[in-house]
Amino acid sequence: ALTGTFTSPAAEAAAKPTPSTAAGSIPKFAVAMPVPEVLRPVRRSWNTDYYRMTMRTVSTEIVPGHQTEVLTYDGSFPGPTIMAESGRRVVVEQTNALDTPVSVHLHGASVPTSSDGYPMNVIEPGGTRTYTYPNVQPNANLWMHDHAHMEEAEHVYRGMSSMVVLSDAAERKLGLPSGEYDVPLVIRDVDLDDNAGIVFTMDDSVNRTTILVNGKPWPYFTVEARKYRFRVLNSTNLRWLAPFLADASSYTMVGSDGGLLEAPYSTPAVVLSPGERADIVIDFSTYAPGTSVVLQNLAGTGDPAEIMRFDVVAAKTEDHSRVPAALRTLPALPTPTVQRSVVLTMDEDGRPNPMGYINGKTFDMNRIDTTVRFGDTEVWTVSNGNVTTPHNFHMHLVQYRVLERNGKPVDPSEAGLKDVVALLPGEEVKIQMTFDSYRGLYLYHCHLMDHSAMGMMAQMEIV
Ligand code: C2O
Ligand code: CU
Repeated sequence: ALTGTFTSPAAEAAAKPTPSTAAGSIPKFAVAMPVPEVLRPVRRSWNTDYYRMTMRTVSTEIVPGHQTEVLTYDGSFPGPTIMAESGRRVVVEQTNALDTPVSVHLHGASVPTSSDGYPMNVIEPGGTRTYTYPNVQPNANLWMHDHAHMEEAEHVYRGMSSMVVLSDAAERKLGLPSGEYDVPLVIRDVDLDDNAGIVFTMDDSVNRTTILVNGKPWPYFTVEARKYRFRVLNSTNLRWLAPFLADASSYTMVGSDGGLLEAPYSTPAVVLSPGERADIVIDFSTYAPGTSVVLQNLAGTGDPAEIMRFDVVAAKTEDHSRVPAALRTLPALPTPTVQRSVVLTMDEDGRPNPMGYINGKTFDMNRIDTTVRFGDTEVWTVSNGNVTTPHNFHMHLVQYRVLERNGKPVDPSEAGLKDVVALLPGEEVKIQMTFDSYRGLYLYHCHLMDHSAMGMMAQMEIV
């Protein structure tokens, strides 16, 4: 069900290869893919899990035999996973041991504005701030990442990224693969210099050609011949991904940004723009032990072909996991009372310092772009007004439904709860959401992080 001509910023990379040095020498499928560590709470009360994290610079081995300096949540690249539970609060005390101000955003979560990681609510170097996440929403695939004013793109690119898996009892009853068979795949690209140092150049969609999964380049992952659930996160700043098994077998998508879909969806590839998540189940029992299968990008994306490789071994025990035909019921869509339109554009005339715009304006922290009445249900028509530059659209605070894309019903992969929606040049989507959780100031922006850092961001106040 992949329709339309698919282009991505990386299509240019194929046309104009500037082989990045250290990257050119990295062998594929030579390092094992690590699974990010699950962070342990420092304390648990009857309704709250308390965590402590220190943001710090560490050296890590990305290119075999080289050390790369990265910015981290709590010393790992990507950061540790937080396992959260609907109805239980998570409180994280964050200490900034970096030499740059940071702001921690929990992407996809509905949280009070004081804990939302507003760009100006920074933690100065040496400072500490406590964030409270009420987790009053159902299961979801959340993402902790930096949001410091105009610095978010570089900070996230250098490593400030951690997965937060929010689960609930209804989800657990389904019997999907769990425990060691439920694995995050944090996929990103990077440009590395001769010494394996991370090179950040704003809006560089061409040279970020090394693919990392859970922080390692083109890794392999040993899997048993059984079902696995993978929480796939496109944590790139600019690149589209379309994970596809090289033998063209289908996998089963069970969830997206805001948690489970209503029904599983069997597909050979899910297209993910930056910030989007796909929760997928791959059944490796169809492969003989000893077989390897490469996860690559769907041909035609223009992206570097390979992502990682799965090496199948015999199953240790019987696989009792299942993918039921019904996963959840999404709340009925209330009748909207407000319609708005949002147009995303970026300077495309080749001027030296291009800016990003929402409805013709670049981000201004002193301007409230949209005032929303608490409790209202709104429909926003969001379009990409550019002719060559892809964008996408993220809102803080809410999970929305995508009602239509270019006037047509959406693909099943976009039919669940979403907080990022892709917009290729000229595309238009209609999204619907209800503002009934918190009041205050929240952002909406393009999630091609270099674009938001260039001003393609605006704010709404819920009153
Ligand atoms: Cu994932 Cu405002 O961001
Ligand atoms: Cu954009």
